[in-house]
Amino acid sequence: MTAFTASAPGKAILFGEHAVVYGFPAIAIPVTQVKAKAYVFPLPLHPRGEVKVEAPDIGLDERLVNLPENQPVRLLLSLLADELQLKEFPAFHLKIVSTIPLAAGLGSGAAISVAIIRAVAAFLGKHLSDEKTSALAYEIEKIYHGNPSGIDNTVITFSRPLYFVRGHPFELLRTREPLTFVLADTGVKSSTGAVVGQVRSAWLQDQTSYDKIFKQIGEITCQGRRALEQGQASELGALMNRNHELLKQIHVSCPELENLVSAALKAGAGGAKISGAGQGGNIIALLSPDQVQPVTAALQKAGAVRTILTHLSPGD
Ligand code: PMV
Repeated sequence: MTAFTASAPGKAILFGEHAVVYGFPAIAIPVTQVKAKAYVFPLPLHPRGEVKVEAPDIGLDERLVNLPENQPVRLLLSLLADELQLKEFPAFHLKIVSTIPLAAGLGSGAAISVAIIRAVAAFLGKHLSDEKTSALAYEIEKIYHGNPSGIDNTVITFSRPLYFVRGHPFELLRTREPLTFVLADTGVKSSTGAVVGQVRSAWLQDQTSYDKIFKQIGEITCQGRRALEQGQASELGALMNRNHELLKQIHVSCPELENLVSAALKAGAGGAKISGAGQGGNIIALLSPDQVQPVTAALQKAGAVRTILTHLSPGD
């Protein structure tokens, strides 16, 4: 039986993580080299309402009704049914696979949600707007990340570089010159919700200092937007370095992240910083074409468990 399929990319935050939770701008880019993919196989001979969920990456193979009510796929399908005003789905088997590393700040959860929404909507012959798709994925983000800004579900749904301010319409960005980035994974798993929670506790203790840091990050993000749009790589790299220093001041770095940032810079990267919540997960470094090989090799030598190259081009 033919499957209905949909996929969604990973993402990386280029500027403004954490500050974005407090209303300052951030910039995120899609990482199309990794993907979450959902397959929907119709089960026409099975009773209506029968849904099977298979996610081999996490050893899940279960009927939907047997999953806990707050399990993300169950919750997402229930929100989707409400949205489409469906009492029961026609029977289907949902298979989810993903090459996006988990708990690494690359948006795997949001990408899985977006892929599922699109594949199930295609199976049902329904059209859901990107805005609706992103809003449904955001509902699931809220359960897992506590107080998410909404940047992950937005960049993943639209799969374009974007400038994002919480509660405001986002803006899609285009670079004038091609830009290459490498993401390097510390291999240290990190929970976005936990790190965002720690930053909130620290902010509650010392709002004046934290607000000052978030404001500086916001200014760097605005300058980063101009540098990205104009394709000014050297300016962009310097701003990434400054953003990293400020992320250190809010205590979201860790020795493994510092090790990769300094390995990238020593090998010649134009700039390097934490990408995402921090305390593990990935760094992002800006590379000119001749830096790709030496910087990637240096990151691997320094212990990166994975490196992913990603590009922005004027046509994106
Ligand atoms: O999912 P991550 O690790 O890329 O973190 C998302 C970015 C934060 O600003 C830390 C949180 C948020 O909701 O924007």
